[in-house]
Amino acid sequence: EMITGFQEHLLHWYRKNHRDLPWRRTSNPYYIWVSEVMLQQTQVDTVIPYYEEFISRFPTMHELARAPQEEVLKRWEGLGYYSRARNLQSGVQEVVEKYNAKVPENKKDLLSVKGVGPYTAGAILSIAYQKPEPAVDGNVMRVLSRIFLIDEDITKVKTRQTFETILYDLIPEMEASAFNQALMEIGALICKPKGPICEECPLAHLCRSKAEGTQLHYPVKKKK
Ligand code: ADE
Repeated sequence: EMITGFQEHLLHWYRKNHRDLPWRRTSNPYYIWVSEVMLQQTQVDTVIPYYEEFISRFPTMHELARAPQEEVLKRWEGLGYYSRARNLQSGVQEVVEKYNAKVPENKKDLLSVKGVGPYTAGAILSIAYQKPEPAVDGNVMRVLSRIFLIDEDITKVKTRQTFETILYDLIPEMEASAFNQALMEIGALICKPKGPICEECPLAHLCRSKAEGTQLHYPVKKKK
């Protein structure tokens, strides 16, 4: 009941309230990959025009793979963190050569690709391929730590596994993409770091930190 209530309230809210973002109109795994790499470092509003231009210049992995690195970096100007652009191009070259330009559908192969870590792998598997895999980023850790009173230090690598374990029990088999993006959306729009809008949260009735009034104590960043 906790699990199904969580899923139903979250998905119902997401259907009504999600933003219409360009990468939500595709399930092309390469496009999802590009969007997730851009979104790891930069806000949604900033990413949108970069994503659109990048995809129109490099519409398939082949075009990105054979482009001069300096042009890729030029398209990235303003997003910062150029190593991510270089890693993305290297990773795409790897997928073109080793996997015949088909983004792997399993976690092990995906994690072997340059620049693809657990978050990006989970995002690609769930959003593009509808696999029930977690995609744990800072937003998701904030939301879940508040709901379940998780006081582990989120700067530790091991803590991500705690969240993944919780998510394996929560992600609905049939709606992994919407479920994961709904958690991200709650984190972005409602469960904000300094001013959570609990009155609008579909999970407020399940939220243990709201019950205690300790929302702002979570997530825990360094053990006291
Ligand atoms: N942040 C990271 N991934 C995202 C996504 N798919 N949609 C919106 N915000 C995000």
